[in-house]
Amino acid sequence: MKLKRILKRILKWTAYAILLALIVGIILLCVGYWRSTNECDHKTAALNIPMRAIRYCDYGSPDVVKLDYVEKPVPTDNQVLIKVRAASLNALDVYLIRDSWLTRLIFGFRKPKDTRLGRDVAGQVEAVGKNVTQFKPGDEVFGICRGALAEYACPSERGLVMKPPNVTFEQAASLPIAGLTALQGLRDQGKIQPGQKVLINGATGGVGTFAVQIAKSFGAEVTAVCSTRNVELVRSIGADHVIDYTKEDFTKTDQRYDLIFDNVGNHSFSERRRVLNPKGICVLAGMGGAGVRGEAIGRIVGGFTARGLSSFTDQKFAQYMTKMSKEDLTTLGDLIQVGKLKPVIERTYKLDDAPEALRHLDEGHARGKIVITSNKGASNEHKPN
Ligand SMILES: NC(=O)c1ccc[n+]([C@@H]2O[C@H](COP(=O)([O-])OP(=O)(O)OC[C@H]3O[C@@H](n4cnc5c(N)ncnc54)[C@H](OP(=O)(O)O)[C@@H]3O)[C@@H](O)[C@H]2O)c1
Repeated sequence: MKLKRILKRILKWTAYAILLALIVGIILLCVGYWRSTNECDHKTAALNIPMRAIRYCDYGSPDVVKLDYVEKPVPTDNQVLIKVRAASLNALDVYLIRDSWLTRLIFGFRKPKDTRLGRDVAGQVEAVGKNVTQFKPGDEVFGICRGALAEYACPSERGLVMKPPNVTFEQAASLPIAGLTALQGLRDQGKIQPGQKVLINGATGGVGTFAVQIAKSFGAEVTAVCSTRNVELVRSIGADHVIDYTKEDFTKTDQRYDLIFDNVGNHSFSERRRVLNPKGICVLAGMGGAGVRGEAIGRIVGGFTARGLSSFTDQKFAQYMTKMSKEDLTTLGDLIQVGKLKPVIERTYKLDDAPEALRHLDEGHARGKIVITSNKGASNEHKPN
């Protein structure tokens, strides 16, 4: 009887403790939500050195993105100040803007904490922080940083490499995230080998156009999956076979592949297993792979399924996150320099038109890369209010 009473008391106090923790948690969430803000809410009257930059003050569609005047950045000890000559867009830039529970959880509850956009960048070094040893003013560089959609940006020394002399700023800016994703996916995750049959699903977007050419440079026999209007484009960049997805489903043919590089994730795991060789590998570019393109929950579930399936069968599904690697960026730059890689640039927009460029990318049918160039001298044309 005594033990029963003690147990009852423990249960009661545990329930109270859980309830209290829940109430405190909810209050903290509410306070966090209302306090989470960004610099758009307290814009100061005058900027010391204004520059034009693309910003997003709220989550939503690419319509929330705008060109604004902000303070020109100052490099920290490990950073390099570059005058941006070209930047390029990636799926990531659109995901950051999107209003989803995952973006709010990671990038700011109520509003995005960091309002800058753009990652891929190419430009000329203007100044360097005191710990920077590899670059000096005047160097032409490319790489990855935050806030590439601006007149100036401050990448860290670790995020940059020298631009090969006969590669244009636009070509260099098109390379970083998409090129690294294709290279690391095929080589490190897919263990690509000469002579292998490789299928690339989503072969004509930013990542896909690099993947087709990189797979060819490894000596693979490449099948590209794209829509009718892009058949000639993928042939022109080296695809041996083309499947027009509007007419044929690649998972319903008799062909088998050693490696599937999937940029789209619009087929189930069993459909893709059906066309993989018994020891084949299916690489899921980024986190895509559950058959729900762009949906956070689908991507997470896809990751777990991929890992689970790979543990129990000889066919492997590999999901990965692209890593910044100076060595890999240099390799990609060299491939362009020697003519083995030719970036496919669908269109170059001016910085003012970046919102339109993001809207186009968001439609999901980009042909290669979309590049943004900063319009020269424009910061003197319109002074901020
Ligand atoms: N590992 C990472 O961290 C990382 C980095 C970069 C990108 N990614 C991921 O990689 C994926 C591709 O990125 P991206 O930059 O190449 O995107 P993108 O430039 O927007 O390209 C999308 C491509 O998908 C094709 N497509 C659309 N529906 C299709 C379908 N049903 N079948 C075949 N192709 C289809 C489109 O071709 P059509 O016009 O012919 O339809 C278009 O060329 C994204 O999911 C992105 O999140 C991951």
